[in-house]
Amino acid sequence: MTQTIIDKHASTPWNLPDYASARVHFDWPQARATLAGLPGGGLNIAHEAVDRHVAQGHGERVAIRWLGKSGERIDYSYARLSADIARFACVLERLGIRQGDCIAVLAGRVPALYIAALGALKAGVVFCPLFSAFGPEPIQTRLEKSGARLLVTTPQLYTRKVAALLPQLPRLEHVLTVGDDVEGTYHLEALLEQGEPDFPTAATAPDAPALLHFTSGTTGAPKGALHVHEAVVAHAYSGRAVLDLRAGDVYWCTADPGWVTGISYGLIAPLVNGVTMVVDEAEFDAARWYQILEEQRVNVWYTAPTAIRMLMKIGATAIAGRDLSALRLMASVGEPLNPEGVIWGNNTFGKPFHDTWWQTETGAIMVANYGCQPVRPGSMGCPLPGIEAAVVRRRREGGLEFLGVGEEGELALRAGWPSMFRTYLHEPERYAACFVDGWYLSGDLVSRDADGYYWFVGRSDDVIKTSGHLIGPFEVESVLMEHPAVAEAGVIGKPDPFAGETIKAFVALKPGYAGDDALRKTLIGHARLRLGPAVAPRELEFVANLPRNRSGKIMRRLLRARELGLPEGDLSTLESSDGA
Ligand code: WT7
Repeated sequence: MTQTIIDKHASTPWNLPDYASARVHFDWPQARATLAGLPGGGLNIAHEAVDRHVAQGHGERVAIRWLGKSGERIDYSYARLSADIARFACVLERLGIRQGDCIAVLAGRVPALYIAALGALKAGVVFCPLFSAFGPEPIQTRLEKSGARLLVTTPQLYTRKVAALLPQLPRLEHVLTVGDDVEGTYHLEALLEQGEPDFPTAATAPDAPALLHFTSGTTGAPKGALHVHEAVVAHAYSGRAVLDLRAGDVYWCTADPGWVTGISYGLIAPLVNGVTMVVDEAEFDAARWYQILEEQRVNVWYTAPTAIRMLMKIGATAIAGRDLSALRLMASVGEPLNPEGVIWGNNTFGKPFHDTWWQTETGAIMVANYGCQPVRPGSMGCPLPGIEAAVVRRRREGGLEFLGVGEEGELALRAGWPSMFRTYLHEPERYAACFVDGWYLSGDLVSRDADGYYWFVGRSDDVIKTSGHLIGPFEVESVLMEHPAVAEAGVIGKPDPFAGETIKAFVALKPGYAGDDALRKTLIGHARLRLGPAVAPRELEFVANLPRNRSGKIMRRLLRARELGLPEGDLSTLESSDGA
């Protein structure tokens, strides 16, 4: 553990409350009271994020500044956004989509995605984002499981990935495409034009379902974490307490809206806090990113370790001569942020830079260097006021053992914060298995230091984090198994200096197939086509068989230990037929 401590006050005027001192009190009802609410006690994310600001006289402020790949720029004021999302809510109603139904969006960072997300929320319809780089397999699995009745996508993605799936998706009734006309789909803009700009907000209760985010586990299909409208209380509060969002700020979150960060902090938290959020359609490009930071006069920047590592590699010359004086704070999420990254960010930008920890399931930031807390590079920070965390071990006989300072265990959070997921869709048992004695168990191994800072140690399961994306090995293995040559497959994450981890597959072939280079290429190609390049293995090794435990589960942990030359650990459950 490094002893470096970085004082946020030293480099910037920091106006956040000092929650650590006894003078500043926090409780959730108070956080809720900063929001407007609906008449009659309801709560609706879209109302808090957009309509409320218009009602309060801020309709002219820019809500979304969209920067297109080829240099276009579109500003959506809060008033314009409010009208557009009302139109979309109206379109949903006319298509027969009702409160509690689900719609999905498969698109990159296009304005329609944000309009559809907020429009659905306004209508009380559950919004489910799908990562646009997914191949047809993950798209189909998620659309099926979500039961989405309507999909918004682009003509290109529709033709390449969706059209062929339709016969297998009987519950998907409508597809709306953005831009050009596509046969068999509705034209989104044409429908919006006919929608009513003052369509009313659904009277959603605080615990009405709002967002469905898919996330990967070790086994089985991806899990659909369902969040409710009340989550907005945590988005609003953490946006202020951790990201220091202030009305009128320019804020940029670089996360893809196909994942939870891109919605919680790439849409809801910024708008609820009345900021102007920059949306860049393009993919990572160091020169472009520095240009955006300068030209848009970004005040607060939320990004990811992968991006930071790439910027570090490119070096400081790319930033030379840029006027980044508007920048007040940078933060990171998604994977461990190395201490070097924190120190690099502080030195390069001369602004505080810190880590934040949370998950799809938690919906919002749980552990971070909130407020004016000093930053400890390499640490995730401390649990936010309102969040009770602990380091625990599950007892074999049931219940939890609470661990002390310096001990490694699983990070647990006391259930009950507003953005906590409320179920895994259709899998109540899987949901229940996440909780012990009223504590949510995160699956992350951590330790806590004497001052209450948390330090990330690793995952307690086999999920893989590549470029900030959580990948379930099972999904990758299943796609490899589709190929007639494959008898069995096991997939692991291998440390990578830029992506955090990359995916490596071990494949045992059926008799009669030769594990040569041509087949290796074919299998990787098959996986890329079916899963999308971001989810497909980069490396593939043929093996005679895979280590399994006595209940027949592939021992990925052992594959990983052997690959990385680590101790093999407890092998007592290894089935003896393993030829290792
Ligand atoms: C997993 C959750 C965080 C929202 C977006 C990703 C890892 C996340 C950190 C961090 C170390 C981190 C954990 C966590 N993770 N933030 N600051 N330091 N690890 O959500 O896809 O559900 O992934 O990402 O392993 O459990 P997600």
